[in-house]
Amino acid sequence: MAYTQQGFTERPRPVQIGLIGSGWMGAFHGESISRRVPGAVLAAVADPNLESATAVATQLGATKVTASAADIFADPEIDAVIIASPARFHAALITEAAAAGKHVFCEKPAAQDLAELDAALQAVDAAGVHFQIGFNRRYAADFRAAKKDIAGGLVGQPQLLRSLTRDPGTGSIGHAARIPAWTIFLETLIHDFDTLNWFNEGAEPVEVYAAADALVEPGLRNQGFLDTAVVTVRYSNGAIAVAEANFSALYGYDVRGEVFGSKGMVQAGRPTETTAVRYTAGGVSADTPRLNVELFREAYTDELVDFVEVVRARREGSQPPSYALSLTPVAADARRALAVALACIESVKNRAPVAVAPIAESAAGAPLVGAGGTKVGS
Ligand SMILES: NC(=O)c1ccc[n+]([C@@H]2O[C@H](COP(=O)([O-])OP(=O)(O)OC[C@H]3O[C@@H](n4cnc5c(N)ncnc54)[C@H](O)[C@@H]3O)[C@@H](O)[C@H]2O)c1
Repeated sequence: MAYTQQGFTERPRPVQIGLIGSGWMGAFHGESISRRVPGAVLAAVADPNLESATAVATQLGATKVTASAADIFADPEIDAVIIASPARFHAALITEAAAAGKHVFCEKPAAQDLAELDAALQAVDAAGVHFQIGFNRRYAADFRAAKKDIAGGLVGQPQLLRSLTRDPGTGSIGHAARIPAWTIFLETLIHDFDTLNWFNEGAEPVEVYAAADALVEPGLRNQGFLDTAVVTVRYSNGAIAVAEANFSALYGYDVRGEVFGSKGMVQAGRPTETTAVRYTAGGVSADTPRLNVELFREAYTDELVDFVEVVRARREGSQPPSYALSLTPVAADARRALAVALACIESVKNRAPVAVAPIAESAAGAPLVGAGGTKVGS
């Protein structure tokens, strides 16, 4: 026997990715790119902590390492970047990446206020690059299934929506003193706000009322640390939503979403790590996910598969993937969720309901997100 010769068409050059920030989330995204995302290569890693960048690059086979993201922006071989630095650097990094013509995947939040976000999105728009925000829940199989049901009319007219995040914990938060103020809204509940906006697509968040406290770490209340929050969001279609978060769920990482409407209800959120359930004399039990990268391993991978597919399509002048339902979270989605988070901060400060539109519009002068949900820089 001898091998027969196969004729292959030439494979397109893989998308060359530069990772900016190689901490917890960046290292996981880097691993996804190098091991689980077809058509992409982790080419470079940048982190001011050069030791961290070097360790991640070495482990994942990236050949270029630097302490400065500017080196990645200046590298003509890099097609796209993943920004996973702390949030306070995101807007400036998006701006620089776009100005250098790089497609951008940015972890949430895209910015810490709307003025800096709008400046960054202007740069994205001017450069005509793809911008995607890390709202990974959209890619989780159960959330996608729920979205399909909602879009198919299963729940009828949405009346009540719910989204919750309970981070796994031990009953105390070791690094709480180092967590920036308002993180619970800007970095945690922002996921829930996007889920609610996405589930209730076509409606705009109109008003929020938020209550928040330090119940896990009461000793840090006076420093402005908040670990527990509940938010009501009123939407332009009349639906009322509740989002809630706590930073220390002893039983594991708990993320759920729900839409209740005139015809029924759909829920998403996987309570156990696998579908294996133990039945013993002691009762029924199951393992629960303890880490975000356990619960959302596939979702974190799939958001990057989507990103790379769009970048490849744009680079090759072909049509980006088109989904039956809206999926890819783009600039308008980043902005809408951030506006809700910022309104929540005002609500907690004022102990009163806060209208979202004045906040969303004040930064931009002319809002980038129109009533019809115009996509910016998508
Ligand atoms: N989508 C999710 O579920 C999820 C989960 C966790 C974190 N995040 C987001 O990911 C981002 C990073 O969080 P993390 O938990 O990985 O933090 P981290 O502290 O573990 O890592 C941040 C890294 O960025 C580096 N860094 C600091 N300044 C930088 C700069 N100017 N340029 C490049 N790198 C810089 C730090 O040295 C560090 O290595 C945050 O925006 C966070 O909200 C998202």
